[in-house]
Amino acid sequence: MAGGCARVLPPGVQAWPGRGAEAAAEQALAGRVPAVVTHRAGAQRGAATSGTPVTAAAQGAFLHLSPPDVGAVERKLLLEAFDSGWVAPAGPDLTAFEDEVASLLGVRAAVALSSGTAALHLALLVLGVRAGDKVVVPSLTFAATANAVRYLDATPLFVDSLAATWTLDPEMVADELGARATSGRPLPKAVVAVDLYGQCADYDALLEVCDRYEVPLVEDAAEALGSTYRGCAAGTFGTAGVLSFNGNKIITTGGGGMLVTDDDALARRVRYLATQARDPVPHYEHQTVGYNYRLSNLLAAVGRGQLSSLADKVAARRATNTLYREAFAGVPGLEFMPVAGYGESNCWLTAVTVDPAAFGATRDDIRTHLESLRIESRPTWKPMHLQPAFRGCTMRGGEVSEDVYARGLCLPSGSGLSDNDRARVVEAVLSAPGAVRRR
Ligand SMILES: Cc1ncc(COP(=O)(O)O)c(C=O)c1O
Repeated sequence: MAGGCARVLPPGVQAWPGRGAEAAAEQALAGRVPAVVTHRAGAQRGAATSGTPVTAAAQGAFLHLSPPDVGAVERKLLLEAFDSGWVAPAGPDLTAFEDEVASLLGVRAAVALSSGTAALHLALLVLGVRAGDKVVVPSLTFAATANAVRYLDATPLFVDSLAATWTLDPEMVADELGARATSGRPLPKAVVAVDLYGQCADYDALLEVCDRYEVPLVEDAAEALGSTYRGCAAGTFGTAGVLSFNGNKIITTGGGGMLVTDDDALARRVRYLATQARDPVPHYEHQTVGYNYRLSNLLAAVGRGQLSSLADKVAARRATNTLYREAFAGVPGLEFMPVAGYGESNCWLTAVTVDPAAFGATRDDIRTHLESLRIESRPTWKPMHLQPAFRGCTMRGGEVSEDVYARGLCLPSGSGLSDNDRARVVEAVLSAPGAVRRR
């Protein structure tokens, strides 16, 4: 987006120690956890004494992958919004939530929407994607990224990810665009890059390719609020950026999303389309088909509360990542998602890959073992080119996303995890039947 950028994390947040250390149905990893709200000092805490490793046998409460982490601040703001009478869709909290996110990210405009998926849909729509068009999408992502393309009757062109970052491979994007330009086939109408599990895609490289072919970039930063790329906030790298406030994300409004942009006209158009495309006249006049995609004022109040503790939430997820790295150092056959040198992930989800020959158990063995111990873990995203819903779409490459899917596992990463919860996870992984414990 902009040339300059804002640092997303407020002072006081430590750089992620994990960086360079080695240098995630409605309940699926999409974060759909049941409506279990984890107050920071609440029900999902482990039962054992702090500092005491919990044995696998000492099971506590069910540990979710990435549950909502809400508390007194959100409750207060929600009730204040309710009591103020601003229960109807718009209101001061909605405007304030947008302003606060825009200021945090250092962008000119933010439009709060009912979901990140709605933000993706409208981003592509305002960028001119129409029926029959193509849109580049990484195969290794959550289905929403590709679904938004299909809502417009356009077709995703799936492209593989880099083994070194698990994010969209810029060279392959260049190959795809170059091949189309050379053969006279239509260029895609947009490239969507995804900040996977919180790790940014390589925007210098991707923007160079997009600029060369004059194709707009959309940044799907649904998983990456609080992450940075070369010191700039995730979400700020495309013509439009997309955030998600789904229940499993780093901050939640129960459900919600946001489109962020430096393009005021684009933001105005998205706001118009998201409110049924109603013209500002007393009678109900519509020049075009609109959508009911606005976030409610009440949910925006929750979002403001969540935003006030974003730094703590990022710090907690990074601490979990670091702890898992330390605990599994030297364990044969367990590797972590590679860390890109160019940025700081919010560590939304910590993902590992499992080499069964070296570890002694498969990814699925570990997952079912954890489940038996009341711990949720999930395979990494199943690539879109392997999904029945996208049968027939073209795929460039595929080895990386297929390998990540075959061996990847996302471990509990919620910001409400206690030390004991983390210890339970570590002990559970290491006690998987057949696991070789140390090198
Ligand atoms: C990469 C990615 N894109 C888009 C979305 C969609 O966001 P939402 O659930 O808010 O519609 C999600 C998560 O749900 C996601 O992980």
